[in-house]
Amino acid sequence: MIQTEEKVRLQKIIARAGISSRRKAEDLIQSGQVTVNGAVVTTLGTKVDPAHDHIKVSGKHLPAPAPDTFLILNKPAGVVSTLQDPEGRPTIKHMLPKPSLRLFPVGRLDFDSEGLLLLTNNGEVAQACLHPSHHVLKTYLIKIKGILQDSEILQLKRGLPLEDGPTAPAKVRKAGKAEANSWVEITIHEGRKHQVKRMLEYLGHPVIRLKRIQFGPLNLGSLPLGKSRFLTDKEANSLRQLLVPGKPTARRVSPRRIKPARWAESKRSPRDQRKTRN
Ligand code: URA
Repeated sequence: MIQTEEKVRLQKIIARAGISSRRKAEDLIQSGQVTVNGAVVTTLGTKVDPAHDHIKVSGKHLPAPAPDTFLILNKPAGVVSTLQDPEGRPTIKHMLPKPSLRLFPVGRLDFDSEGLLLLTNNGEVAQACLHPSHHVLKTYLIKIKGILQDSEILQLKRGLPLEDGPTAPAKVRKAGKAEANSWVEITIHEGRKHQVKRMLEYLGHPVIRLKRIQFGPLNLGSLPLGKSRFLTDKEANSLRQLLVPGKPTARRVSPRRIKPARWAESKRSPRDQRKTRN
């Protein structure tokens, strides 16, 4: 194997070529189906140079790596946000442009939730979007039973003692009211299971409808329900920024330059900031 600075883990190269997920690539390696320059490699984590080493899987050369693809879908309620469902419920699969793109969802939306779902074939960006240290902001427009009182808004802003631990401070904005129900916009950076519903249930306002309208730098805009669109280069690049150490969370951005990084949390406690740096 040629030793250069450009070496990458074998399972990552196989996954990038779009023939399997990273997990499946590991199985292929461990079961002896992968050769590098003619020699079988079964050790996970072996690093190779994709530009020079000849990699074969099951006797076939790897295809060129699939280009990075990012799209957003406006997921309707009543559909699971995965490509397969063991319970046989409808999935988002038929709403995506081409199965050959091998995209997977970044995080989840509940079955009865709707709105912005990011899909990509870039596992590193996906992982970074979901990693708690990046504090990627998600905004939800929610129809709730009743009307939030100022004291309840304050509780949301301070954090609530849910059974799996206190929530981080949320941004909250009243967004309209009807007879017995109202709309509220909540922005959080955490991504715990059913988090927004549980926060509002804690305050005695069950959720009637929940729609994600913003995910990091991505805005749902007027994308019709059930439709998807590819990200612009600018949007994709702003997601890729998550892979650059120290960016784009505003912890290293001076207040005057805060605008481009607004989609990552900007106001974090000094204690929290220390935690991320360590
Ligand atoms: N919070 C929830 O409770 N449900 C979702 O689908 C997303 C956030």
